[in-house]
Amino acid sequence: MKYCEMSKEQLQQELVQLQKEFEDLKARGLKLNMARGKPGKEQLDIVSDLLTILADPAECVDSGIDCRNYGELSGIPCAKKYFAELLDVKEDEVYVGGNASLTLMFDTITKAYTHGLLHSERPWCKEEKVKWLCPAPGYDRHFAITGCYGFEMITIPMTADGPDMDMVEELVKDPTVKGIWCVPKYSNPDGIIYSTETINRITNLKPAAPDFLVMWDNAYIIHEFEGEYVPFPDMISLCREAGNPDMVFEFASTSKVTLPGAGVAVMASSKENIKYMESILTVQTIGYDKLNQLRHVKYLKDKKTTLELMKKHADVLRPKFHAVLDALDSEIAPLGIAEWKRPKGGYFVSLNAMPGTAKRTLALAKEAGVVMTGAGATFPYGKDPQDSNIRIAPSLPPVAELKEAIAVLCICLRLAAVEKLLAD
Ligand SMILES: Cc1ncc(COP(=O)(O)O)c(C=O)c1O
Repeated sequence: MKYCEMSKEQLQQELVQLQKEFEDLKARGLKLNMARGKPGKEQLDIVSDLLTILADPAECVDSGIDCRNYGELSGIPCAKKYFAELLDVKEDEVYVGGNASLTLMFDTITKAYTHGLLHSERPWCKEEKVKWLCPAPGYDRHFAITGCYGFEMITIPMTADGPDMDMVEELVKDPTVKGIWCVPKYSNPDGIIYSTETINRITNLKPAAPDFLVMWDNAYIIHEFEGEYVPFPDMISLCREAGNPDMVFEFASTSKVTLPGAGVAVMASSKENIKYMESILTVQTIGYDKLNQLRHVKYLKDKKTTLELMKKHADVLRPKFHAVLDALDSEIAPLGIAEWKRPKGGYFVSLNAMPGTAKRTLALAKEAGVVMTGAGATFPYGKDPQDSNIRIAPSLPPVAELKEAIAVLCICLRLAAVEKLLAD
């Protein structure tokens, strides 16, 4: 029976029952974590050969470049070739960096702030105001970057096709609106793939700011755990064809292909943008870890081999996502107190609890020993106006632990909902 159809007496009975179940859970002293999208140990073990693939000094060479030495700021040739194929862009549109795409994203925004972009009239630090579009729910670390530079972040609702483009098209008429965060494939946390129409409308934007920046974070470009690989359009070419050749910077990394924190990150943009960024980044570093780039290309080889590896990751991840969705389907769906997405890739399940109950649900979960991403984290400034969105990250715990954790979450969702209904 749906909670909203229950009488006050029925709700009170339910409350007593749930409180008892909750106390029993607490007494078990659980320590479970569904907070961040980290690969599980089994996934890290799959790629162990990466650690030993480059043992011979004679093999540390790519196109005559000794990868043990300084140089090659924008990446070694084989790494550029590898990532160009992966992202379906040209080799001279690729900049291969260090271990984290987040660093490249931070650097891009930082360069815009300190120096300006190719088409900036002035560095953004000299602008009276910078506004930034934040499709939400979205990735908390994106919002942390634009937040740390004091940009005014404007929430853009997510639809089943991606960001609400009517709103985006209207807002970019304001010249102080300088950019937008996008996770176009298996968005964090909703797992949405932007529709062709959404992509088309983004590429054809007519922003008033000449240096409007689309931060195209393709973190989950090859990360399906259900079904076959879904090819994705090359945003760099699309923007060029639409007459916005320098509007987009694309990012990706091998963090969830090989080893997070010890992978290789990549940035792609127009040739001119890459050249410009390189001219500033050259002050920052003489070069990234080329041995790791080489190690990765030797190990991952090409797109086909990489997609085969992703199938192995998928086999580990799929049962975890099913465990979450099965529990929600059986425990929560009949009660009508939450809705959730059913992603086919990425690292998250995005759940919308009854408005006004997300914070309480997660506080209860914490009390019962289950750590989750903080309530509000998926919105700019950490403030979910509905207090509803909960990001579930099923990848880290083994399936048995995950089942326990999700069972706890279900009890907490129910308890918070009953409390709210009785209070209203
Ligand atoms: C959308 C998105 N972008 C970037 C990252 C981090 O990527 P990297 O490890 O390359 O910094 C994550 C990690 O969860 C993510 O979800």
